[in-house]
Amino acid sequence: MAYNICFLFFLCITVSVIASELEVINGKIKITTVTTAGCIHTVNFIGEQLAPTYAIYGEYLDIHFVPWGRTQWHENGTITCQFLQNDCWANRLQRCVLNFLKDDQDAQMRYMNCEFTGTRPAFFHGSYVCAQREGLSLVDVDYCLKNPELDNLDRIAQEASVAPMDPDTGLNAVPAVVFNDVIDPVLYTQARNRLESLVCFALANITGTDVSFCPV
Ligand SMILES: *[C@@H]1O[C@H](CO)[C@@H](O)[C@H](O)[C@H]1NC(C)=O
Ligand SMILES: *[C@@H]1O[C@H](CO)[C@@H](O)[C@H](O)[C@H]1NC(C)=O
Repeated sequence: MAYNICFLFFLCITVSVIASELEVINGKIKITTVTTAGCIHTVNFIGEQLAPTYAIYGEYLDIHFVPWGRTQWHENGTITCQFLQNDCWANRLQRCVLNFLKDDQDAQMRYMNCEFTGTRPAFFHGSYVCAQREGLSLVDVDYCLKNPELDNLDRIAQEASVAPMDPDTGLNAVPAVVFNDVIDPVLYTQARNRLESLVCFALANITGTDVSFCPV
């Protein structure tokens, strides 16, 4: 894209802007979202951007949640979180539940929408209601939550959060949103403000979808 920019009516320069393009890879857009339970920006992103976009274009999306934003795992098995104990409790619960629902993306999206909207059951109330709504055994969920040393879910979440949260090369923001495993601050800003439109334009531009008439 080239723009002519003029100063003082006569002094003009031409600048090129390399616009970041959201790619559709093998018919899908991978969206990784790093969350933490106590974060209001995550509430807004999931409720106002991700869930509505998923409702329309879910079949073209490959969604990965990493409920580990600004969460630090320590060698002694403890973790520390941005919004303290409730945040840690809810993040650990969420990575357990997301793991139980790993073969059902619709259920994962419903579950995270449940946790981040309304009364925000896990974070504010220490409640398992969102897991219960997905039909999971609360005995199994509770066992997973209380025995983090018996699986490697903490480490997996910790590792998945490193690149998006890196202060120098990552987004270092919660929520962090990464498309197709490529960290791109321009696409990130668009995701936070107009995800539906961003996804729509990317899908409209490939053959094999009947997506058109995108909102700006
Ligand atoms: C675990 O390690 C962290 C970080 O080194 C430390 O702050 C914390 O006090 C330790 N907790 C226990 C129970 O040892
Ligand atoms: C649309 O596809 C063309 C050709 O593959 C590509 O050059 C262009 O960047 C794409 N535009 C968008 C918005 O993805």
